[in-house]
Amino acid sequence: MKIKTQYSCQNCGQTSAKWLGRCPGCESWNSFVEEQASAGQVYPSPRDAALELAGGPSEWVPLEQDPGDSQKHLHRFSTGIGELDRVLGGGLIPDSFILLGGDPGIGKSTLLLQMARGLVETNPELKMLYVSGEESVDQIRGRAHRLGIMSKGQIFLAAETQLERVFANIKELKPQVMVMDSLQTFSSGSLESAPGSVSQVREVAMRLMALAKSARIAVWLVGHVTKEGNIAGPKAVEHMVDTVLYFEAEAGQSYRLLRTVKNRFGSTRELGVFEMDGDGLREVANPSSLFLSERKEAVAGTAISASLEGSRPFLVELQALVSPSGLAMPRRTSLGMESTRVSLLAAILEKHMRLKLAEQDLFFNVAGGLKLTEPACDLAAAAAIWSSHEEKPIASDWVFIGELGLTGEVRRVSQPEVRVEEAKKLGFKTVVLPRSSLERCAKTSGLRLLPISRIGELPSLFC
Ligand code: TYD
Ligand code: MG
Repeated sequence: MKIKTQYSCQNCGQTSAKWLGRCPGCESWNSFVEEQASAGQVYPSPRDAALELAGGPSEWVPLEQDPGDSQKHLHRFSTGIGELDRVLGGGLIPDSFILLGGDPGIGKSTLLLQMARGLVETNPELKMLYVSGEESVDQIRGRAHRLGIMSKGQIFLAAETQLERVFANIKELKPQVMVMDSLQTFSSGSLESAPGSVSQVREVAMRLMALAKSARIAVWLVGHVTKEGNIAGPKAVEHMVDTVLYFEAEAGQSYRLLRTVKNRFGSTRELGVFEMDGDGLREVANPSSLFLSERKEAVAGTAISASLEGSRPFLVELQALVSPSGLAMPRRTSLGMESTRVSLLAAILEKHMRLKLAEQDLFFNVAGGLKLTEPACDLAAAAAIWSSHEEKPIASDWVFIGELGLTGEVRRVSQPEVRVEEAKKLGFKTVVLPRSSLERCAKTSGLRLLPISRIGELPSLFC
């Protein structure tokens, strides 16, 4: 076979026949590296390997045929970890191809080992193969023992970096679920480029995708994220996988957030919350407790909001500090909420509540390190700024929900009733909400609901 040389961008996977200083795809400099592509035969192996495993070519079926069989396709395995099941869209689909990305050391291997335990506990027939290109079998076994994972002959470990050998293992073992930890360490013998290069990453992912779909194996790919926040060669892989999950942590925090970035089988707004301790990852059933500070008495400059992440409400505490500035350009610093949004809210308060913020520094923070993207937290943010400016404490059992418009109106939010229910569950007593959302929340009893139409009405609520 004739070997052809090509250059590919190590950042985004763009290929070119000649070397380029700057990638036309992602505009990064000096990212092109010479790699060998097999000419005349594009990806011959995945198809062959897949056909071999599947025992022949696929057939086509009419859409309406065979409901019994299609039911089988819809079946999902429970991973035994509620947070993970929810983020996946209700469990693991048997032939899905999933990418789990995150910083090195964040807990990806730990999560997947714990998933192994949950999977075999809830699915007694299931076999799972954990292939590590990073650790020896003894190391993985040692970690599994520390985490208290018993296999009962259903979990198999392999330390391997050669893709073809992994395929040979699969052929023999026939697992229903497998983990490849991590993508960057595997290489296929059909390419000469180094493991971790874009062409290898793409080849490995391509062949695993074919495997997932043809042999009906749920394949997990672990991908380390680079300093820039990309999974190495991610653009080459993200379009191939069904689901992309990111595992992340805020600096200095022990909790971990599992986010869905893409999901063909469920919502992409789900958020799983875990805490890392000595016994591995623990699910956080009541995440609001993480993001609320523990004080009971009212202090000026804080207000609580109910943010919705996917299907789940979170109560979060927003904090503002307004203080006279000696600077010509007062400072506007924000953590956890986009600073342009905070400046915009400050402008709305100046205009519609006559707050004199122009000569004040404004510091803004979301407690617990959560990043808020929802405009439904606007009202609470505005209330925190107002409370700090006026030095008027807001009672700690109040919750604010509502989006602010530039004209000072408090606009409706999505699913207000879910947020109000969460506030009630956590023992809050008063919810300030958009007047237009009042009717939808009227069913929730035992809470005082205070409707508000314009931000200017805020002070009158405290009379
Ligand atoms: P790991 O799963 O190896 O991360 P990744 O696969 O994403 O690189 O997690 C390693 C970190 O987790 C390491 O810093 C130690 C910590 N850890 C605990 O705190 N408790 C535990 O029980 C385990 C297994 C790991
Ligand atoms: Mg790892």
